[in-house]
Amino acid sequence: MVLDCDPGHDDAMALLLAIADPAVELLGVTTVAGNQTVGKCTLNARRVLSLAGAPDIPVARGADRPLVRPLRIADDVHGVTGLDGPLFEHEPKVPEATITAHELLVGVLTKHDSPVTVVATGALTNIARLLSARPDVASRIDQIVWMGGSTERGNVTPYAEANCFVDPEAAGQVLRSGIPFTMCGLNVTHQALVTDDVLSAFARIGTPLAGICVEWMTFFASTYRRLWGFTAPPLHDPVAVARLIDPAIVRCVEANVVIETAGEWTAGATAVDLHHYTGRPANARVAVELDRPAYWTRILDAVAALG
Ligand code: BDR
Ligand code: CA
Repeated sequence: MVLDCDPGHDDAMALLLAIADPAVELLGVTTVAGNQTVGKCTLNARRVLSLAGAPDIPVARGADRPLVRPLRIADDVHGVTGLDGPLFEHEPKVPEATITAHELLVGVLTKHDSPVTVVATGALTNIARLLSARPDVASRIDQIVWMGGSTERGNVTPYAEANCFVDPEAAGQVLRSGIPFTMCGLNVTHQALVTDDVLSAFARIGTPLAGICVEWMTFFASTYRRLWGFTAPPLHDPVAVARLIDPAIVRCVEANVVIETAGEWTAGATAVDLHHYTGRPANARVAVELDRPAYWTRILDAVAALG
């Protein structure tokens, strides 16, 4: 798999899961503007790979803005660095790749014999750009598993989830491409709450990396408490990785999904036809239920395995 992300606290945890879980092989990391500028997200991805002791996984910088809209960052949620919490004095040892995200995706998809999944935990700008520039290569993507959207309400506007809101045109283009698509939206990621018992389990691992995870999730908890009144924050992005690792962890149903791009008040909304009102054919697998114990076991095991 390639992880296309905008770290981000929950993206950081998704990276750790993808690096350490034996069921997947992380071939590369591509970054996209979203939670913060693409420069900050790229630095954060390098930082996570350094902390995880994974210097050989390439980190390549992607789109610095959505296809047509101005960039809206989420510094209210993720802070001025995009990964606020623990302080890091030094530059990460893992360098930025000398190739772009586009070149990394083209390289991986053309050279790899076995099927390559793209797990996306940010706006879908990089994949939409690949579809426009190299449809021949994009069609080699085995499947896209995305954290984004919602079958219910949004988290940046009443109806839009952040990753979809940042670049709805890109999300629409990717959905229309016909590449097998799985949507892990807020309706399921809000089942992945970092409750006190989960935080304690991370603390009990006792490694420096686990301590940093606790600091990240504690920061994330503070913003979710302040902005939304949550008693525990939802760890969204690893849900998409977990779905690839073991589909039984994230139950999905087939449904038609379209992206609102023209609505005056609803841009970035995912219109998910769970009840088949429209007669439009299913074009996505939509996540509806999380096996919480299995989810947390997988993430805790990953962090523990990284030492
Ligand atoms: C999504 O938006 C970002 O803030 C998170 O990293 C996650 O990918 C949740 O709406
Ligand atoms: Ca993200």
